[in-house]
Amino acid sequence: MRRPRLALDPADALALLGAASHVNLAWVGPDGRPGLRALHVAVLPGPPPTVVFHGSEVGEKQALLGRRVVLQAEEVLATIPSTFTDPERACPATTYYQSVQAEGVAEEVVAPEAKAAALEALMGRFQPQGGHVPIEAHHPLYAKAVAGVQVVAVPLTQLSGKANLGQAKPIEVRRAIIEGLWRRGLPRDPEVIERLRAATDRDPAPPTFFAPSGVTLHAWAPPSDADVVAAHLADAYWNSSFSQDDLRRAHLASAAWVVGRDAEGLCATARAISDDTKHAWIYDVWVHPRARGRGVATALMALLLDHPRLRGAAKIHLGTRDAQPLYRKLGFEEREVARFTHMERAGALRPEPSLRALKTVSEP
Ligand SMILES: CC(C)(COP(=O)(O)OP(=O)(O)OC[C@H]1O[C@@H](n2cnc3c(N)ncnc32)[C@H](O)[C@@H]1OP(=O)(O)O)[C@@H](O)C(=O)NCCC(=O)NCCS
Repeated sequence: MRRPRLALDPADALALLGAASHVNLAWVGPDGRPGLRALHVAVLPGPPPTVVFHGSEVGEKQALLGRRVVLQAEEVLATIPSTFTDPERACPATTYYQSVQAEGVAEEVVAPEAKAAALEALMGRFQPQGGHVPIEAHHPLYAKAVAGVQVVAVPLTQLSGKANLGQAKPIEVRRAIIEGLWRRGLPRDPEVIERLRAATDRDPAPPTFFAPSGVTLHAWAPPSDADVVAAHLADAYWNSSFSQDDLRRAHLASAAWVVGRDAEGLCATARAISDDTKHAWIYDVWVHPRARGRGVATALMALLLDHPRLRGAAKIHLGTRDAQPLYRKLGFEEREVARFTHMERAGALRPEPSLRALKTVSEP
């Protein structure tokens, strides 16, 4: 019996199935023998939502067709060592994960158009960058292949998902686990902390997440927030040579990206790149005008400096034109760089205008 507090929303369960690196499919054949395969699948939205895959992935397709099958996928979010909450006993060791299970009857897809659509959905899932001629049933490139390949569909009659994020644990245990994750700092731990915090309406964050009243600070933001941040930062004087899309990608590729939220939404952001050991560089510190002058930037910077990707760096750098008082309060000092000449050039994908011109001239 699944406890309701662990149930995933059906849309989230379907998204998990659609994003899984592979899906396990199990069935019992006509001779009573069980079968189990790991498959690459695509999920067609439906209704009903339908899982599709190549017949060749299964091999024993005749045993499968017309039979009720079970599909399952999971995503491990974090392993939680017992020592986060108990110095001696092994019992609290656990894994936080989310999983999805679905059922339906496997059927062969026969119509060439439906086969082509299923195959194109698989391409979209596993080659999202495209680059190929879209698969169409009667296209000369594909007609023969579409006719020859076996495609199986499972229209889903049942779907359920669950997330084990320690929701049922007492708040002291949740706080200790969140603090343990923050100190451990594996690449996905900041995300898991935010998912744990979002899974309940309580907010047991470590002390460095402290924020002025009305604002909460977060050590990870969902990718959709990168668009919001990019739109705010595009007008900043230091970003004049970057597009909104550049800024979106820069945030998603940063080692650390922290944000603040208030009742109206995202109100503060800062990010850093880091080698974890020698140097980290902080960029794009910004607080919405409605939240300025209340210590939000100071609190956000304190969180960023304590981020697992920054706290191990011997030197943390930033450049600023006029906000030196903010950074001085956080221990930054002005440094003359006279011993060095600052040199730079454009990256390979961003040729200098002069280089571009040269290339054009030398081209036949
Ligand atoms: C700079 C910015 C991030 C500060 O945000 P904030 O939440 O208002 O900052 P805080 O309230 O934490 O201020 C901390 C201290 O820094 C000082 N400070 C903040 N911005 C400053 C600025 N532009 N110039 C001088 N001092 C500044 C404040 O006076 C405050 O000092 P106090 O506590 O002694 O009064 C915000 O004003 C902003 O987003 N500005 C536009 C973008 C920008 O300039 N970013 C910085 C690029 S390096």
